[in-house]
Amino acid sequence: MTLTVPAMMTARVPGPDSGENRVLPMPDLTYTPEVAAETAHLYDRVKHVVPPVEWPFHAPYVAAINRLKKERDAVILAHNYQTPEIYNCVADVVGDSLQLAKLAARSTARIIVQGGVHFMAETSKLLNPDKMVLIPDLKAGCSLASSITGADIRRLREAYPGVPVVAYVNTSAEVKAEVDICCTSANAVQVVESLGVDRVLFVPDQYLAKYVASKTKVQIISWHGACEVHERFTGEELRRYREADPSIRIIAHPECPPDVIAEADFTGSTAGMIDYATSQKGGKVLLVTECSMADNVAASARDVEFVRPCNLCPHMKRITLPKILDSLLTLQHRVEIPEELAVRARRSVERMINLQN
Ligand code: 13P
Ligand code: SF4
Repeated sequence: MTLTVPAMMTARVPGPDSGENRVLPMPDLTYTPEVAAETAHLYDRVKHVVPPVEWPFHAPYVAAINRLKKERDAVILAHNYQTPEIYNCVADVVGDSLQLAKLAARSTARIIVQGGVHFMAETSKLLNPDKMVLIPDLKAGCSLASSITGADIRRLREAYPGVPVVAYVNTSAEVKAEVDICCTSANAVQVVESLGVDRVLFVPDQYLAKYVASKTKVQIISWHGACEVHERFTGEELRRYREADPSIRIIAHPECPPDVIAEADFTGSTAGMIDYATSQKGGKVLLVTECSMADNVAASARDVEFVRPCNLCPHMKRITLPKILDSLLTLQHRVEIPEELAVRARRSVERMINLQN
């Protein structure tokens, strides 16, 4: 007789690992009075965005994840676009891509769980080659990262000999290995100017490239990638919001098209947007970015009214509490980067990080 093992079970069968890396059993996920008491202080952080009827579903996962993090010696790094229950209730570190990369470099934990997309987990692995880096869903990609390959960079270098290549961190390790330096939305202008040249190739975001070009005298040659979330906003829709309330402050991410940036009172990385929003004393702020960020910022800026012309990032939303729990139990999916590639990709990321210090 043949026994068929369901796919989920095969994923849970321990491989060569044993001891501290063994697969752990699924904990009881009942919402008991003990779980309610254990998580009450965390619900307080998200009660403005998570209705009471939903909390009994989240709380058992929150409690289990927080216990398991200690048992596994793991930290959870969460991007600003993660859902409020991840961002506020299980994350150890939150931030934009640059902050997460820097904090990943300083982590002392044995395991890093990336609450974010695949390129972010790769960056964490590049900076922590000896640690186990886990991404709870391997399909958490990014339209920018998938718009360009290492072979594309080699072709660009042939077409523009001697012109340095700057890659947005929203790229694969394969691309990072081919470029001169990385940048994030927080430091793109500084990175471009640090090269001391008249022209740079800037990949893959055409809109971030335009934004950088508007802030520097360096000539920017760009790629045609775009963020599927930010490219959908239009200047026209922002003008309508401003007509309805001229006092509104519009804050946009530099991955937005130029007509959107032209309408913004402030443009910056997600961390820059949060700082700007929380510095507003009251009033109405329109966040031109991914939906969850307004929910997360609202927690620390209670006197600000947030307007959310909300676009979801489907990749960020692949990361959920059940998948984070599964990741900690099974230690899947481990991010591995071939050493020869990692050495070159790490150089590009570290060059950027060292520039900041
Ligand atoms: P930040 O580095 O500004 O957080 O941006 C990352 C990102 O993916 C925005 O879409
Ligand atoms: Fe990529 Fe855009 Fe999603 Fe950020 S919001 S991860 S740039 S698709």
